[in-house]
Amino acid sequence: HLLAGGALTAGGAVAGAAAASLGRERDAPVTAVTAPLAHGTRTVPFHGAHQAGIDTPAQAHAAFLAFDLSARVDRAALGRLMRLLTDDAARLTQGRPALADTEPELAALPARLTVTFGFGPGLFAAAGLDARRPRSVAPLPAFAIDRLQERWSGGDLLIQVCADDPLTVTHTQRMLLKDTLAFARPRWTQRGFRRGRGSQDDGVTQRNVMGQLDGTRNPRPGSPEFDGAVWVDSGPSWLRGGTTLVVRRIRAEMETWDAVDTAGKEFAVGRRLDTGAPLSGGREHDPPDYAATNELGLTVIPETSHIARAHVNDDRQRIFRRPYNYDEPPGPDGRPDMGLVFAAYQRDVGEQFLPIQRNLAEADLMNDWITPIGSAVFAVPPGCAEGGWIGETLLG
Ligand code: HEM
Repeated sequence: HLLAGGALTAGGAVAGAAAASLGRERDAPVTAVTAPLAHGTRTVPFHGAHQAGIDTPAQAHAAFLAFDLSARVDRAALGRLMRLLTDDAARLTQGRPALADTEPELAALPARLTVTFGFGPGLFAAAGLDARRPRSVAPLPAFAIDRLQERWSGGDLLIQVCADDPLTVTHTQRMLLKDTLAFARPRWTQRGFRRGRGSQDDGVTQRNVMGQLDGTRNPRPGSPEFDGAVWVDSGPSWLRGGTTLVVRRIRAEMETWDAVDTAGKEFAVGRRLDTGAPLSGGREHDPPDYAATNELGLTVIPETSHIARAHVNDDRQRIFRRPYNYDEPPGPDGRPDMGLVFAAYQRDVGEQFLPIQRNLAEADLMNDWITPIGSAVFAVPPGCAEGGWIGETLLG
């Protein structure tokens, strides 16, 4: 832009081209008036059998807020808190201000806002309901690859806020934080992002900060595979229609990753970087052939590649990945601080997430470049009808 501006004062043909280009740029706000508004005013229903923000196509921005409950918070207090939070979440997601909104104007653009609540192990204990906690809603066992930090781990209550607009996320986060402060203290906050809304066609697999197409083999929301893998359909009746969530903060070791050539990067994942196709050939969504061998008799997709280790055949054992990128300011030495806020939903952490994570921890070539630094597990209650509140099936 600076160059174009300079050329404009210089005159001549270059200036003409620059002016034309500037003219086009001046046109941009005209279309911009309608385009972002279309995104900004879109809403996702809050009420329903399931909480929103799980099968909702991932919005561009997210904040995951984990809280520690204060000492005297019991089942009745939790009921009051969840009623308050449900009420404000229902309003904000529909583009209406929170009950005591200090900046009601900011509620006007929900931008597909969803708010999703999760209950950590400590919440069950506080409510005197530990017997109703699904067994695997507990800290994950330690893995050799882990370098977990307390400041990114655990939490009694989770609020996941997602929207296509970062200011909407910020406003929602602040309103819900205000609701929560009389009952709990923030433990950690993780903000994440994906491609900007409208940068790509909806439904296209996105790239993560490591440059990989990430999300190719994921159960498709609304499909029987998704429903069978994600929504709780047996066990404790209070959780039916709900799910469980694992949030892992996974640092990407960008400096050493940058030093790997394309073949090495593709080997680690088992897919091509450019198209996302499996190394056994075909296109992105073609099934990988894990048995295909090369002239040396070695499998074309390495047995220790990420997809070979993460793959499961039984649809009921799959997990649904809804990851966000994070990118914090680099340290004084210039080292990047980035990676994934890896969020995975499944009926049962013990039956689905754990076996996959174990397989990966044992032997995944990607382990050289990704390091789990945070870990938290939550039960995600079912949705509620209008007039109801999230968590009523457990706490009500
Ligand atoms: C697949 C990246 C962590 C489970 C993939 C793919 C990529 C990828 C590029 C291939 C494309 C796709 O199907 O999405 C990453 C990165 C990670 C990470 C960068 C960390 C920073 C994890 C973790 C788990 C996991 C922690 C579970 C414990 C899976 C599964 C698949 C997959 C289940 C699909 C496998 C298949 O059926 O083909 N991941 N992943 N990933 N990943 Fe990860």
